[in-house]
Parts: sequence; C-alpha cells; structure tokens
Amino acid sequence: MFSSFLRFIGIVGFIINALHKANSCDLPAKGNPYFPNNFSFGIATSAYQIEGGWDADGKGPSIWDDFTHNYSHLIDKNSTGDISADSYHHFDQDLAALKELKVNHYRFSISWPRIFPNGDISSRNQKGIDYYNKIIDKLLKNGIQPMVTMFHFDLPVDIQKIGGFMSDKFIEKFVAYATELFENFGDRVKIWMTFNEPQIFCKSSYADGRYPPLAGISGEGDYICVTNTLKAHAAVYKVYRSRFYEKQKGKISIALGNYFFLPKSNETEAAYRALQFNIGFLAHPIFHTSGGFPKVMIEDIKSNSLKEGRLTSRLPSLKGYWKNLIKGSADFFALNYYTSRMMQRAVQPKGLNPSWERDMDCDESLDPSWLKATSGTWLYCVPEGLEGMLKFLRDEYGDLEVMITENGWSDVGELDDVSRIRYLKSHLQAVLNGISSGSNITAYTYWSLIDNFEWRSGYSIKYGLYSVDFQSSNRERTPKKSANFYREVISSKKIPNEIHV
Ligand code: GAL
Repeated sequence: MFSSFLRFIGIVGFIINALHKANSCDLPAKGNPYFPNNFSFGIATSAYQIEGGWDADGKGPSIWDDFTHNYSHLIDKNSTGDISADSYHHFDQDLAALKELKVNHYRFSISWPRIFPNGDISSRNQKGIDYYNKIIDKLLKNGIQPMVTMFHFDLPVDIQKIGGFMSDKFIEKFVAYATELFENFGDRVKIWMTFNEPQIFCKSSYADGRYPPLAGISGEGDYICVTNTLKAHAAVYKVYRSRFYEKQKGKISIALGNYFFLPKSNETEAAYRALQFNIGFLAHPIFHTSGGFPKVMIEDIKSNSLKEGRLTSRLPSLKGYWKNLIKGSADFFALNYYTSRMMQRAVQPKGLNPSWERDMDCDESLDPSWLKATSGTWLYCVPEGLEGMLKFLRDEYGDLEVMITENGWSDVGELDDVSRIRYLKSHLQAVLNGISSGSNITAYTYWSLIDNFEWRSGYSIKYGLYSVDFQSSNRERTPKKSANFYREVISSKKIPNEIHV
C-alpha cells in the first residue's frame, strides 16, 4: 500500500511541477467525461449555521449559543447564529433553491438541543421533531433524498456540563439521541452520518481552545474526544444494525476529512504520516482490516508520553470490545475535502507541548502555484489533493463506496463568483478522474447551499451558491453564477466546457 502511495505521490509531484507556473486551479481530464447515471449530486448545510430560531419552540441552548452569547468578542463582528439565514422560519426558500438546482440529495444536520433541549431523553421536544419531519417530507415530495448528519458541532449545553466528549456518559447520551432519530425519521432517511469532522471539532474544542468549550487540554483532551466519538459512533451503528436496519435499510457513516497532504520535495514519508495522524486517526479504526489506531500514532505518542515522564500513553488504548465494535462500523466513506498542504518532517519540535502537532512532527507549507480564496486564511484550490485523497482511500481501505459529503470554496459574497465556478469545475473533474481510476464514488455534495454563519469567522466568509440578504427580515436568497453552473452540471451529468451563465 505504502509503495503504491509513493508511486502516486511521484506522479502528483510531477503534475504539481507542470502546473507550477500557472497559478492554477485546474485539473486535466482523464477518461469518461460523464458522471454515472445513478450518481447523486447534492448540497450541504448544518443546523447551527443556517437555522436561527435559537430558542424557538422549546429548543435548548447549544454550546455555540452559549459561546456566541458569552464570548462574542471571539467572533468576527460579535456575530451569532441566533437568526442567521433563519431557515427555521424560511425553509421553503431553501427548498425553492434545492428545486431550482434539481439536486438529488440534500445534506443537513439535526440540532440535538431541538430534539432533546437539555441533551437528555427526558426533555424530548415534539416541536423539534415536527420541524425535521416537515423538512424530510417536503424534500421527499420533491424527489430530493435527505442525507442527515446527527451532530455538526452544536452540542447541548447540559451535555457539556457533564463533561461533553471527555465523559463516557457522552456515549450513552448520544446513543439515546440517535435512537430517537431512527425511531422518528428512519422510515424516510436512508443516509446517516453520526458526526461531522471529529478531528476538527475535537482539536478545536478540546485542544486549541478555538471552539467552545475552549478546553485547552492539548495532546490529551483531543485524543480522548476522538476516542469517545469513535465509541459513540460504533455504538450507534450497532443499535441501528440490530434494531432498525432490517426495516429501514439505510446506510450509516461518519464524515471525515478536510485536508489532504502532499510531500514537500521528496518527503513522502512525512505526507503519509500526516495523513495517518488526520484521516487515519478515525478512518483506520473503522475502515482498515486490522482496526485500531494507526501504528505510527500508537508508537510515537506512547514514546513521547514516556519521555514526558508519564506512565502511560496520552493516546487512549483501543482494544478488545471497542476495537472490534468500531472496526467495520460504516457502510460507506463520507469524505469532506477542501484543500491540501505540503508536508515535510519538522525541522524542530513544533506546537504546544504536548500536542497533536508535536506528536505528528511535520512542518506544513504551501505550493506558490495554488490559488488562494479571497476570504479567510486557510483555503487554497488544490484539486489534485482530492484525487490524491481518493487514491489514498483506495490503497488504505480497499474497495469502498465513497460519498463526497462536503467540498466548497469561499469568497466575500459576490454574485459573479467565477472563482467558485473554477473550484467546482476542477474538483468535479477530480471526482471524474477518481471514478476513472477505480474509486466507487456515488455522490458529490457542495458546501454550501446558502451563505451562512461560518463559525468564528461569522458572516465574513461566504460559501453559498445562493446569497442571503442578512439585512432583510425574510432573508431572501439570490442565486449566484455558480448556482447556474451547478444546475447545468446536474442536468447534463457532465462538466460543461463553456460556462453558460
Ligand atoms: C467544514 C465544516 C462546515 C463549514 C466548512 C467551511 O469543515 O464542516 O461546517 O464551516 O468547513 O469552512
């Protein structure tokens, strides 16, 4: 596996050099220009980012409500998601956009504190259940398949009070919540994701202190969070398979990813290591035939922990019951991909001591040819990274069904969003190239349907195919040029040569 990864990395290096002069966001085509007939095109949002209605109809507070209300100075322009695009009151406008695009599926998340306001089953809120029933029914009535994420960062405050992801209790609480979702929606929802991007929220919430609850337990809290997330995910998978699957026949996964890593010059080992410390951290225990955390993480974190004078590793051990339960606990790979970094082994120890960065022990850099998004600081257009990720998944985890569950480009909100079209074009090409190279990719999901609350960046960064008038009480949606482009892709099942917008 590693040798074929190295060969691929050589090819990617060649492609990158060839494109180097171009300040590029393009990708050459390989093979069939058409997406398969049954390929599903969709678009994504998440509850806290679009819904508003933060305390409507009995909803309880999430840690993002608490954070934006009490630490507003940490968010661009002191913004909150209290109203946001107000999808809670204007879902029909979202539906109109989805119909206009003619998407095959819509990925949205359910707000846990709308269903159980204090996180616990005892607080069950029928009005919250009614809201999602309405959405699901309207989608299906219009031929749009719901793809549902159970957790997209908005943890009920009371679950945080009992320790959040640091506590074993979390597992039991999450299973009760997921069971409620299967009972109420599982007759109609056939694609589920338990968690969105645990490697991002575990690090941001429990190590960096960038996201609530601002717990700076670097190099330990983040690892406990990932471990408990994997356990809760697998426990939910078990409940679904034993109690619901026979009748409901749905599929379950967990959305992983965000970055791919390429080698800086010939540092192939560093790129592979970074992939294991990021994607592999959650994917290896679930999708690899041997299960458990990646070997390189187990060995190096233990060795660092002992050097720090500890008696045991900061990385919790995954053995026996849990290792077996987690192994194989997904029906497809849900991949989020945005961008890439070049990696080399660290010249000197980096990051906090201890930390995920220090354990990973790599320095990251950028290729000067990569096109940078005009908003934010981290997003560069690297479509070959998506191809690389698909190849990595094939090599590491074998013949998997892959659904791309997020991929998106940000700007400052212009309607004439040609850079977004360019990003979309090249990433859709990467999907086609992946299919030609043997990946079983069945879905692509653009992030996001509408401009929305972009976490600590507030409303300063826009990802939507539809703009939202945040000044108007109706929050009117207006299509951008990229909406027309995506509609054309969906109706023709190919990437248009000319952009007719
Ligand atoms: C993802 C996240 C989304 C959205 C997007 C753009 O990591 O799942 O909620 O914020 O990034 O930054």
